[in-house]
Amino acid sequence: MMYNLLKGKKGIIFGALDSKSIAWKVAERAHEEGAKFVLTNAPVALRLGTISELAEKTGSIVIPADATSMMDLEELVDKAVEELGGKIDFVLHSIGMSVNVRRGNHYTHQDYNFTKTGWDVSALSFHRLMSVLYKKDAMNEWGSIVALTYMAAQRVFPDYNDMADNKAYLESVARSFGYFFGRDKKVRVNTISQSPTPTTAGNGVKGFDGFIAYAEKMSPLGNATALECADYTISLFSDLTKKVTLQNLFHDGGFSNMGVSTAIMDSFMENYKEETIDEPKKKDKK
Ligand code: NAI
Repeated sequence: MMYNLLKGKKGIIFGALDSKSIAWKVAERAHEEGAKFVLTNAPVALRLGTISELAEKTGSIVIPADATSMMDLEELVDKAVEELGGKIDFVLHSIGMSVNVRRGNHYTHQDYNFTKTGWDVSALSFHRLMSVLYKKDAMNEWGSIVALTYMAAQRVFPDYNDMADNKAYLESVARSFGYFFGRDKKVRVNTISQSPTPTTAGNGVKGFDGFIAYAEKMSPLGNATALECADYTISLFSDLTKKVTLQNLFHDGGFSNMGVSTAIMDSFMENYKEETIDEPKKKDKK
């Protein structure tokens, strides 16, 4: 459904790698809702991914920027303001990468150079980006900045590895910078804590299939898809959410407030019964 929620708004969208990316869906929905925007990604991702397809489809230009480089971010913001013909109304930070995860290093045995790189890409980049936007006074009043996060920032998910720490930092930056952006520029800053979603970044997490199936069974509404995440993001970019700021907003079908669901309990009890009742019986028969 189209509502013209972003008619006349201008934005920057980070992180569309391929059609599975959450940022890709946000770009498609933002286009449908009448926005104009610039797409950006790391130079290497532009070579590997299919972003030019998205650019063509949405009438956007692509400006490469490594989110760990202040120079790239400054050039990006200058060019985006020039290209779009004015200040920015919305920004999506949809960036995440852990070298420890990629290299299969266990959380207890990290290579700290990898840890630093992952933190720089996934978390500090959000501070860098907001700092550039703030110093250049590049955001319009009542603009909206959103970053994507995951619940491992609050609760233990062992295989999420050092990304859990990166997300905790990212969420904290949203609050801390969000205060100054709200007070000085009337711009809101929020994070959306999304369900596990089958994308390139998601599939990199060890045991991701189990992860996604467990969350699906635990959530009363089931996992939120990438497209549903895009819809929610659009609402945060729209004028309908002007006073929502400094929030970490769970978009997860209810998962974050669950203790246990009947579906999880039933499958647990099936295994439990096998282990504690049926197995001893089988042994007795031998
Ligand atoms: P994705 O792999 O499609 O997107 C990650 C993006 O980060 C890619 O486009 C990649 O090129 C970009 N990136 C990596 N290094 C960069 C750099 N140095 N500079 C600029 N961009 C860089 O995966 P997905 O899932 O769409 O990820 C988007 C966001 O959503 C990430 O922050 C991720 O942690 C978050 N998220 C994903 C979940 C999932 O299960 N897929 C769940 C909750 C949050």
